[in-house]
Amino acid sequence: MTLATQLLDWYYQSARELPWRADKDAYKIWVSEIMLQQTRVEAVKNYYTRWIERFPTPAVLAEASEQEVLNYWQGLGYYSRARNLLAGVREVCAAYGGRVPDDQAAIQSLPGVGEYTAGAIASIAYNRPAPAIDGNVLRIFSRLFCLTGDITKQATKREVKRLVLTHLPTQYPGDFNQALMDLGALVCIPRRPRCENCPLTNLCEAFMREVQDTLPVRSPKKVPQLIRLAAGLVVKDGSYLVHQRPTTGMLARMWEFPTVELADGEGAVERLQAGLLQEFRQDVHVGKSVFHYIHTFSHRKWDISFYQCEWLAGDKLPTTACWLSSSELTSMPWAGPHHKVALACQNTPNL
Ligand code: ADE
Repeated sequence: MTLATQLLDWYYQSARELPWRADKDAYKIWVSEIMLQQTRVEAVKNYYTRWIERFPTPAVLAEASEQEVLNYWQGLGYYSRARNLLAGVREVCAAYGGRVPDDQAAIQSLPGVGEYTAGAIASIAYNRPAPAIDGNVLRIFSRLFCLTGDITKQATKREVKRLVLTHLPTQYPGDFNQALMDLGALVCIPRRPRCENCPLTNLCEAFMREVQDTLPVRSPKKVPQLIRLAAGLVVKDGSYLVHQRPTTGMLARMWEFPTVELADGEGAVERLQAGLLQEFRQDVHVGKSVFHYIHTFSHRKWDISFYQCEWLAGDKLPTTACWLSSSELTSMPWAGPHHKVALACQNTPNL
């Protein structure tokens, strides 16, 4: 039996039942693949179901506002994914009559769609013989063929692609790709792979040489940079001062309570008071810290404290800021831990 047959036999017996596997609609596969980038399957399931209920087709999504779309994405993180998805379906409606195109190159030209995602959509929805190579597939193939090159290097990735293309069955490329996803999630996991449950051990060079725990080889990841922040909960007549982040960069256009970055050893209270005056033209008395979060993004780690602030006086706000009543607080797409604080403010009068 070939590698593909063994893998497919296993998949047809033990495939996971996942909401996006219920049909082969290319738009739904697209949504699921974008949500699954950087996010675990368990976390995605409910978001996906809720999303498809509200936005069942590209046409419905294309008509929605960015604000609403971001609210449906709230909590999944990496919000540029949602913005790109919205831009992508608008392009599909404008250029392809509302139907996701069926060749990999056209799919890959859509915003936010890379080679992996285009391969997954083309193979799963349209049965195109396209590989879909993500971290799982790199790991599985580095073990199957005992590849000892650094898996983060292009040369090693090219070698994996060559091998995947050699084994990709023309008849069931979508099932083959999904079988690899399941194998990577359930069996050929990063640490202590469950080789006793693997359908491919008779073909796995790493298993035969007992080196599966040492593969794939990768250079160490950079540690996320730690940033200390102080945010102000400024209340005036029952409304909170909030502002929208800049249109480019990390968490672009997401909302937050006014926040300042602290230099090493800098005092939060003084810096926050000065920042509110300089950037927001509001004179406040900074009180005690009421929330503290450590929030890790891919390249940054926020150490953020939220301070109660008594509003004393103020001028006109900059255009990116406004006052929001507590009932409006949860209608915005929030940046990271600001969401939890917004919820708490809404549920706790007089905070
Ligand atoms: N991870 C990425 N895409 C996936 C899919 N379609 N099914 C399960 N896990 C995945």
